[in-house]
Amino acid sequence: MKAISQDTLGGPDVLHEIDLPKPVPGPTEVLVRVRAAGLNPTDWKHRSTGGLLGKPPFVLGWDVSGVVESVGMGAAIYKPGDEVFGMLRYPVGHGAFAQYVTAPSRTFAPKPVSLDHTQAAGVPLAGLTAWQALVDVARVRDGDRVLVHAAAGGVGHLAVQIAKARGAYVYGTASAAKHDFLRRIGVDQVIDYRSTDFTTVVEGLDAVIDTIGGDYGPRSITVLRPGGVIVSLVSSMEVSDLREHGEKHGVRVESMLCEPDLSALRSLAALIGAGRLRVAIAAVFPLEELAKAMELGESGRTTGKIVLTVD
Ligand SMILES: NC(=O)c1ccc[n+]([C@@H]2O[C@H](COP(=O)([O-])OP(=O)(O)OC[C@H]3O[C@@H](n4cnc5c(N)ncnc54)[C@H](OP(=O)(O)O)[C@@H]3O)[C@@H](O)[C@H]2O)c1
Repeated sequence: MKAISQDTLGGPDVLHEIDLPKPVPGPTEVLVRVRAAGLNPTDWKHRSTGGLLGKPPFVLGWDVSGVVESVGMGAAIYKPGDEVFGMLRYPVGHGAFAQYVTAPSRTFAPKPVSLDHTQAAGVPLAGLTAWQALVDVARVRDGDRVLVHAAAGGVGHLAVQIAKARGAYVYGTASAAKHDFLRRIGVDQVIDYRSTDFTTVVEGLDAVIDTIGGDYGPRSITVLRPGGVIVSLVSSMEVSDLREHGEKHGVRVESMLCEPDLSALRSLAALIGAGRLRVAIAAVFPLEELAKAMELGESGRTTGKIVLTVD
């Protein structure tokens, strides 16, 4: 099968096409023919630093939408031909930028019928992150007031809609050109982070989702009510300092890494089916143009998700 790999760490130019043997599903695994693969910032971070994977060669990519080709021993919930989507186990399950992947069958949920593969591949990692941060960690409830930083990004735009679906009042930050988009996805109060310091316009919040890091963590703590929670999706190194800071202010500081989660994936699919969660696709590239797709992603300015299509 065709895959995009790298032998050294570096910029997008280290990426190149290789041929690999088609994988074989082990017990309880499925072999999925990848029809589309979503990109996430962790892809370009791993490409350039090795991150949690260490030294290349490796094939990156965690987000898959595709068709079950065959099933391993005991994998009973799918049969060949089923259309599925899911996030490969992070970090060890990487390899979505290829024509085929194998993974435990419960990595995947049935692809929502209202989405094509390109749209579906944009949902799993960002959607599960948003769901796990808001629902499992922050435990956002009806009437809560929630701030989503980078609300137009891959995680942010799905987080906004999930928080709205749970009955929250949502504040979202983005540059001014994206404010119409933020209102369309349900943000109640938009904040232009380039002209307005969010700490001057919000206070007493129940939860903040921090996708930015740096001084956004300590500043976000100051806009929470006592007992409120900040969920940091950035480096855990920063989080130990942040915890101390949170204790002083009487707020909960949590850090998380997204995990495959069949029940949450089904919940996302249900919201999609009900028309309450829409994925925005910023750009689509063929697999062979992964380097170009990453260059766009690394700009840090995209709205929604970048996706690769795979023949
Ligand atoms: N812990 C986890 O499990 C986990 C999972 C997923 C993602 N993450 C991390 O979360 C971060 C966001 O991921 P993503 O996929 O959403 O990224 P993304 O799609 O690349 O985010 C792009 C968006 O960020 C916005 N942005 C950039 N700087 C901003 C700022 N200072 N204030 C407000 N908005 C800003 C941009 O809007 P403008 O053009 O308006 O600036 C753009 O719309 C990344 O660091 C990623 O690695 C962590």
